[in-house]
Amino acid sequence: MRDFDELIKRMTLKEKLAEITQLYGDEYTEDDSTFMGIDYRFEANREMVDNVGSILGVSGAALIKEAQKKHLETSKHKIPLLFMHDIIHGFKTIFPSPLAMSCTWQPELVKESAEIAAKESAVSGIHLTFSPMCDLARDARWGRVVETSGEDPFLNSMFAKAYVEGYQGTDVSEQYRVASCLKHFAAYGMAEAGRDYNTTDVSEYELREKHFPGYRAAVDAGAKMVMTSFNALNGVPSSGNKWLFQDVLRKEWGFRGTVISDCTAIVEMIYHGFAQDEAEAAKKAIDAGVDIEMVSNTYYNSAERLIKQGRLSEDQIDLSVKRVLELKEELGLFDNPFKDADEEAEKKYILCREHRDAARKIARESMVLLKNDGVLPVKKNDEKKQKIFLTGPYADSRQMLDLWSAYGEEKDCLTLREVLSDEMEISCIPGIGILDYEKEQVENAVKAAEDSDIILLALGEEPLMSGESNSRMDIGLPGYQQQFAERIFAVGKPVIVILYNGRPLAIPEIALKANAVLEAWFPGTEGNHAVCDILTGAYAPSGRLTMSFPWAVGQCPIYYNCYSTGRPSKNVYISERFSSRYIDGQSVPLYPFGYGLTYTTFEYGEVILSDTVMRRNGSIMAQCSLKNTGDRAGTETVQLYLQDISGSRVRPVRMLKDFRRITLKPGETCQAVFQIDEEMLKFHTLDKGFAAETGKFKIYIAENASTGTCAEFELV
Ligand code: BGC
Repeated sequence: MRDFDELIKRMTLKEKLAEITQLYGDEYTEDDSTFMGIDYRFEANREMVDNVGSILGVSGAALIKEAQKKHLETSKHKIPLLFMHDIIHGFKTIFPSPLAMSCTWQPELVKESAEIAAKESAVSGIHLTFSPMCDLARDARWGRVVETSGEDPFLNSMFAKAYVEGYQGTDVSEQYRVASCLKHFAAYGMAEAGRDYNTTDVSEYELREKHFPGYRAAVDAGAKMVMTSFNALNGVPSSGNKWLFQDVLRKEWGFRGTVISDCTAIVEMIYHGFAQDEAEAAKKAIDAGVDIEMVSNTYYNSAERLIKQGRLSEDQIDLSVKRVLELKEELGLFDNPFKDADEEAEKKYILCREHRDAARKIARESMVLLKNDGVLPVKKNDEKKQKIFLTGPYADSRQMLDLWSAYGEEKDCLTLREVLSDEMEISCIPGIGILDYEKEQVENAVKAAEDSDIILLALGEEPLMSGESNSRMDIGLPGYQQQFAERIFAVGKPVIVILYNGRPLAIPEIALKANAVLEAWFPGTEGNHAVCDILTGAYAPSGRLTMSFPWAVGQCPIYYNCYSTGRPSKNVYISERFSSRYIDGQSVPLYPFGYGLTYTTFEYGEVILSDTVMRRNGSIMAQCSLKNTGDRAGTETVQLYLQDISGSRVRPVRMLKDFRRITLKPGETCQAVFQIDEEMLKFHTLDKGFAAETGKFKIYIAENASTGTCAEFELV
């Protein structure tokens, strides 16, 4: 590593402040353009542009090489620019949304997708991606659940690690690697009432048990950068939260990389009511250890004054500058400022067959079969020549990409009608849009449905209904889709519903009335090929939910690893009337965490333990037989849950601790075997330790978070 102290000594304060400022690509290319933040005018002057440290949101090998070249010509100290971007689930070859990919329960697939995303980004000139998002998601009203890996800390941690390893490899300076920035530290996913940017109030116990593990896993995997979050956490906005960044991230977890604010989040501390002006916002962020200010310019405008007033020391700025320079050095930019930017490689790799095939494979694995009364797979070459009718707003739509789909384009996606037509004879009338409705069209579709033998009904949300700032207070099917579905069900033919959406939906009527329901999410560039593979039975679905689906929005937030109450349902002391429940609907989810069907069925045996007593530092084995009771091969995700029956703090009713994906032939049986050790029993105890407490535990080996056989053991 170069020693940057000398260089930093030669830099003026203004040059240093520009180095720790990030501008949008627009400001960079047009000298005096302005950017409208939240009621906030950002003006980039020439001096700042010439010395800026990093750029957000541009790509393309030719453009970036040109920009870098010009920058190095004008920059006094010849410090290369760092180009950052949101490459969340693919660059141009788009994979399913992160929530969908988490339903694969296969971190190795997420890693593969991240490697491909890194390669396409790197050849296009990008050096760092703002991914993974490690926020735990519990409230389906929050639009950004689509960017998460769901509600479980164990899976969230696995996926966080996989993304980082996929982007960075073992050395970010290597070819086709980009640096990874985890976000949004911390607890952004807990926005009250699911309204984006809303405040969060989360106990330290909850933070440490459920929210921190995902971020921590990304840090441990070597992520080079951490992004602050927009929310205030327990009264302190993240971008000014010293405890989070100095005490937890740096001191406790040993993070040595760079911290960046979220977009304009520093100046937003004024609106939070946490800083009275820009100078105070800048001071609080710098004191918290936020190195780079994204897009707003409180550092650039106020730090000089703060230093003169003795409210800030220049050493603090120097430290941040050093971290930014070290990151550039780690990426190898001082030796090769263009890194992998290469027009020829762009042509060769972006959207290449290999990448598309991976997108199709991962999309297939991410889809979750929610219901099937036997109507699936569709028998395409049926000698009865059954008439298949495809309808609904997604019947002939290319909207396969969610909000954060980088450079993905709908023109590169095929519609379900196009893909299915290659495989089988179908007729198609969409009949309705997601939000629009024309009586005549509906009637035409209903008529065609009456004349068919089997109906494929493709429903969902607009891509713009999830993602940032897209919170919903009604998470049913938008527009007139439910009414349309009712008309189609009324025809009395078998109906297979395919859902395209970014969040768990409250769809009790669909669940009740459809013969089959396939959750396809926003499946990416190759999404409809994957849907077709599943519908035709060429591939048996194996995805499992990572977020619970509620019956009604009023249940949100609903998640499996909750705490019990003193009055749970079916409790022997209190009548059901006075148990913790709703009087007008279900308390349990419509589809629980871990749920998903395939084209065969499995039978679980009893849980058998090697011992009912576990000694300190010891371990026991738990096993359960699994039999494929259907007539085709299939993959089951056998899930191991633990419950600490009583502790110095209340413990969740269940927590996922391990799982096995097991593929069995028809009639085949095997044993799912798990080792349980003391580490799995540890939690943040009342005396602020992290330890396993002696006492009784329950083990469930289960097909999802609501079922399973159970056994008990005791830690002594
Ligand atoms: C989002 C971040 C994103 C950033 C840069 C913000 O609005 O919250 O997730 O990385 O913009 O695009």
